[in-house]
This record gives sequence, structure tokens and C-alpha cells, in this order.
Amino acid sequence: MAIRIIREFGDDILRKTSKPVKEMTPRLKSIIQDMFDTMYASEGVGLAGPQVGILKRVVVIDVGEQPLVLINPEIVLTSGSQTGDEGCLSLPGKHAVVTRPENLTFRAQNIDMEWYKMEAEGLLARAVCHELDHLEGILYTDKREGPIRDNGEPDEDREE
Ligand code: NI
Repeated sequence: MAIRIIREFGDDILRKTSKPVKEMTPRLKSIIQDMFDTMYASEGVGLAGPQVGILKRVVVIDVGEQPLVLINPEIVLTSGSQTGDEGCLSLPGKHAVVTRPENLTFRAQNIDMEWYKMEAEGLLARAVCHELDHLEGILYTDKREGPIRDNGEPDEDREE
């Protein structure tokens, strides 16, 4: 296991489009393990390939239910909406308000490259949208509806 350096906002790699994964390799398996280690060490709920310098369509997510590996993920259906705070391990200590679907269905390949389909709601749906955006070079700040705030900063001027 190894904790990798997380690329931060301003790094060009975060703006690039990631390439599909064609096959699982021992190297990619090891990168995925490192992605989990890195995400847990930073107390994040998701991490995408580009954030550790890998321009491949690989995402790890754990919102506290179960660890998920999403290879070549696609959102197939969305419904509803949720508006709330969102952060990113590539912009530590900050957050902003972003609106995402409340529910979605995605498909992806697992670590054995088998396709699966899963429904997600709430935080998991938000995490899936956020991480899939990373694969397109899109950052949550592109979609934010208010200022970028420091974590812990009182939001008294926010209109609820
Ligand atoms: Ni992020």
C-alpha cells in the first residue's frame, strides 16, 4: 500500500480527459489500492485517476457503505436534485454549493472488469457525479452556485 500525492487545483492534469481502461493489469490494481489508501488517509469519499496523475477512467468511492471501484463508469439515468456543500481532495479545506441529481443509476466495470449497474442516492449520487466529472477534466468549482468557502467558515450570509 502506498499513499500517493494528490494533484491540486492549478495542475493541468486535472483539466484533461481520461482514457478508457481496456484491461486490468497488476499495475492498475496496485494503483487502485493506492487510490483507496490515499482517499482514506485524506478522509475523502471519492478519488479519480487524474487526481493521482493517472489519466485513466478509474474512480474509487466510499461514502461509508462499501468501497466501490468504478472503471469506465457511465451515468445512465438521473432524477431529482440536491443542492448542498461539496468539496474535493484536490482543493483541500474548501467547499462550495453545487446542485446534483438526488438519484441516479450508473454502470461501471469492477476490479475484475465485469460490468455492474448500481442505483445511488444522496451523498453517493453526489460522489459519483463529482468523480465522473474529474474524468472529463471538470471540477466542482465549474458548477458551483456560490463562493468557494473555507471549511469551518461561518456561512451567515448564505440565503437558505
Ligand atoms: Ni474531486
